[in-house]
Amino acid sequence: MKRATLLSFAAALLFGMVVIAAPQITPLAAAPVQDDVQEAKKERKKPGKKAVERSRKTVAMLDNIFKQTIVLVTDKYVHSDDDFAAGSAAVLLFKNISESGDNTIRLIDATGDPYEPDNVAKDAFEKNGLKKLKQGEQSVDAVVNIDGKPHLRALTAVPVVMQKCVMCHAHYKDVPAGEPIGAISYTVPIE
Ligand code: HEC
Repeated sequence: MKRATLLSFAAALLFGMVVIAAPQITPLAAAPVQDDVQEAKKERKKPGKKAVERSRKTVAMLDNIFKQTIVLVTDKYVHSDDDFAAGSAAVLLFKNISESGDNTIRLIDATGDPYEPDNVAKDAFEKNGLKKLKQGEQSVDAVVNIDGKPHLRALTAVPVVMQKCVMCHAHYKDVPAGEPIGAISYTVPIE
């Protein structure tokens, strides 16, 4: 008798769980998935203005940090052309950042005479962007889709910030004043 009570109690419990759980699962499951898909489709077409603005701010912040660092390192640590150049440090830093996260960053030449053949504009965005920077723009950007996700691509001008740059890049002295000798190229997700 005791056992039977226990069994029927367990059965009632199980039945109760099924009855209670079942109606909750079905209607809830369908709706949000559908919404997510719609939302993702919308987002893929056009990221919101605020999201684009956030990515612009991220680029501006990174750009300031990198440029301040390059100048600081060159000023305080680079005394001869044998020293480890801030340019080399930047190229290595950007490579490591690009390989370890969602942001892709490159330091590229704008003079046609790079130290390293790899440090040049590689695609249409970078090539066209360099032209605009040489015409006087400080930065250019564009929203693009990469693997179905919106990204901000941006190119910011690198001028000959100090005399020491010419110590290693001798041809920088022939570049007209105010014209950039390079650029930093960013690809950051828009979220
Ligand atoms: C001690 C020598 C040295 C000094 C000083 C120096 N650079 Fe460089 N720079 C290099 C080297 C070496 C590379 C190539 C790094 C690499 O690809 O690993 C480079 C790369 C660059 C590049 C990428 C294009 C290219 O030529 O490969 C830019 C742009 C650049 N430097 C700008 C500057 C600026 C601006 C300054 C002054 C703030 C400066 N550099 C000072 C040695 C120097």
